[in-house]
Amino acid sequence: MKKITIIGTGYVGLVSGAGLADFGNDVTCLDINLERIKILLEGKIPFFEPGLSELVERNVDAKRLHFSTDFSRSINDSEVIFIAVGTPMNSSGISDISAVKKVAIDIAQNISSSKVVAIKSTVPIGTCVELESLINSKLKKNVNVHVVSNPEFLREGAAVRDFLIPDRVVIGSSSKIPIDIMKEVYRPLFLNETPQIITNLPTAETIKYASNSFLAVKISFINEIANLCDEIGADVHVVARAMGLDGRISPKFLHPGPGFGGSCFPKDTEALINVGKQNNVDLKVVKAASDSNKIQIKKIIQKLDKHIKNYNNKKIGILGLAFKANTDDVRESKSIDIIKYLISNQAEIAAYDPAAIENMRNIFPNVNYKYTIDEVVKNASAILIMTDWNEFRGLDLQKAAKIMKEKIIVDARNLLSREDLFENNFIFEGVGRPFLKNYD
Ligand code: UGA
Repeated sequence: MKKITIIGTGYVGLVSGAGLADFGNDVTCLDINLERIKILLEGKIPFFEPGLSELVERNVDAKRLHFSTDFSRSINDSEVIFIAVGTPMNSSGISDISAVKKVAIDIAQNISSSKVVAIKSTVPIGTCVELESLINSKLKKNVNVHVVSNPEFLREGAAVRDFLIPDRVVIGSSSKIPIDIMKEVYRPLFLNETPQIITNLPTAETIKYASNSFLAVKISFINEIANLCDEIGADVHVVARAMGLDGRISPKFLHPGPGFGGSCFPKDTEALINVGKQNNVDLKVVKAASDSNKIQIKKIIQKLDKHIKNYNNKKIGILGLAFKANTDDVRESKSIDIIKYLISNQAEIAAYDPAAIENMRNIFPNVNYKYTIDEVVKNASAILIMTDWNEFRGLDLQKAAKIMKEKIIVDARNLLSREDLFENNFIFEGVGRPFLKNYD
């Protein structure tokens, strides 16, 4: 059991903090956002993440998980300090690590004993070495600080499971002492034989970017194959399934859609391309995946344009605002592009999402948000399904056929049954699944 402080209570920090407490560690989560700490102290969770509330409650009750704003006391009481603050992308496509650097300097100036500083924030390759010298140059006392790279592989919406049952734990460091300390932090996982990758700092940082970029490549690849299927009358789901049965390929992340969004893939692919550029390595495959992703949403818009010639004052329903199911996060959500397009064409938008309405309202306060699927569907000239929420799979097509003005559905996630759409006389578009009755 280790005494740990986690700085930053976003998705990564809070899930990691609660998860590390669940492993038996004594964890304090810190944030400069006082409102956020207040919410957590009241027993509430500041964002939507399935299973997180229960995990937090269980560990708060067991007195292993605490929330505080007392920076100096908390870090001095801890042997390991995790940095999990945001690294948003700036306008030139480079990760802004100023928050990470600021925290690193604060740590250096406040500690009076040796520490391990573990970097959970996704930082450009080379940052951990830079942070180690930055901290050492700012120390006020004669103590040792070891910086460790400990990237996370949590998916929003499945983050609790991903933390508690990870595929691997990656620990990068330049010396043995901090590695042994980090192994103690993750002890229950290693007892369970979770694979551990112990390596140097740049390798650990590269593993994170290479993993996310590879998944992004897979998605862009299947999106392009889906676009081809649309033209030639093939079914991308059958193609993906058959591909996935080859163990070398795996069926995961071969689901076509409107393009990848979220706070990670768009940012991390750009960041990796930039690291390549700085080192004179042209990462053509990652660049192609990123470029392809930027135009995939246009394919969805074209599908709608095919059936709606004039949007002026037509009610267009959007089902799904989050960048994917099981999250309230709208960062880089493809629904943002759709809303912008519909606004520029004077459409009357009606939008619903089970969790993300309030976050989308911050971006588009004037969109007409609805709180049921029926309200979106009623009198709509077309419906676009943008997010893969399970609840949209159960869309009552018989009812929709009766209450829609025009029976047009663009299913950007391939959630609906083409048979049912056909039987209810819908004009519909999926992604890479043209309806060819003979083959169904
Ligand atoms: C991703 C990675 O999956 C995590 O391992 C990683 O830790 C995280 O980024 C991060 O770097 O923090 P996340 O962004 O939460 O997690 O979401 P994913 O489930 O990976 O989905 C990303 C995007 O790809 C979504 O827009 C999703 O709809 C899209 N996607 C995913 C597809 O279009 N098709 C697929 O087959 C899979």
